[in-house]
Amino acid sequence: MTAVPAGGDAVVRVENLAARFGGRPVFERVSFEVRRGEVFVILGGSGCGKSTLLKHMIGLYPPAEGRIEILGEDIAALEGAARRALLRRIGVMWQSGALFGSSTLEGNIEVPLEEHTGLPAEARALVAKAKLGMVGLADAAGRLPAEISGGMAKRAGIARAMALDPPILFLDEPSAGLDPVTSAGLDALIKQLARDLGTTFVVVTHELQSILAIGDRCIMLDKAARGMIAEGDPRRLRDESADPVVRAFFRREAPPDRQGAAA
Ligand SMILES: Nc1ncnc2c1ncn2[C@@H]1O[C@H](COP(=O)(O)OP(=O)(O)O)[C@@H](O)[C@H]1O
Ligand SMILES: [Mg+2]
Repeated sequence: MTAVPAGGDAVVRVENLAARFGGRPVFERVSFEVRRGEVFVILGGSGCGKSTLLKHMIGLYPPAEGRIEILGEDIAALEGAARRALLRRIGVMWQSGALFGSSTLEGNIEVPLEEHTGLPAEARALVAKAKLGMVGLADAAGRLPAEISGGMAKRAGIARAMALDPPILFLDEPSAGLDPVTSAGLDALIKQLARDLGTTFVVVTHELQSILAIGDRCIMLDKAARGMIAEGDPRRLRDESADPVVRAFFRREAPPDRQGAAA
């Protein structure tokens, strides 16, 4: 595994990060950069620490070791207004989509606008409609979350995460629970938003098809290794990785015995 060269265009920099709960390590020595405008994928099997890494990156957990820079700022070192200002510049969509059930889709997208901007109601409604239009939900603005499909809920979740025009969007398993066709549609949307808006996406997933469809670069975490076992273009990892665990993941084969997988 090679170190990422320090680039001037990194919007996220993770250096030597260790995550521990009650002294027990989830992963150690995780280092990588996310570059402006790319779709960066965090992949790996269940329980390897993907969500934990994401939560560290958005400042929910302090690093046990190491450092995380978001848009040039050390997120764990920020407090108060400076911290809120940085958090305003990143959008997050959790696995569930987590829409407010009693509000329409438009109302859901207005929530962050009410919280964080002084926009009058009419302007908020216009922004909310524009965001829904960007994810293909212009006609569903007046519907309640219970009245839409799982795929539409994910799109609405992305629209809400984009309400404040964040330069970076973090998505945790966006295609979880979706059928393959809906999931492919969501992948296409993510690609399009990255291309058209220049938004940087950090996407957690273990869906091989999504990874290959949307990922410009990726890192792979591994539970047994308690850390990163691969980094780079997912298509190249699939075709060229010498690590049997990485190969098995990309070729949908049963993972090899870790004992025999020493580097
Ligand atoms: N808040 C927490 N407290 C204690 N252990 C946790 C916490 N969050 C996650 N873990 C543990 O960290 C490991 C990785 O979890 P997670 O990041 O959710 O994995 P993934 O998203 O890759 O499936 C698991 O063993 C999980 O039990
Ligand atoms: Mg997870």
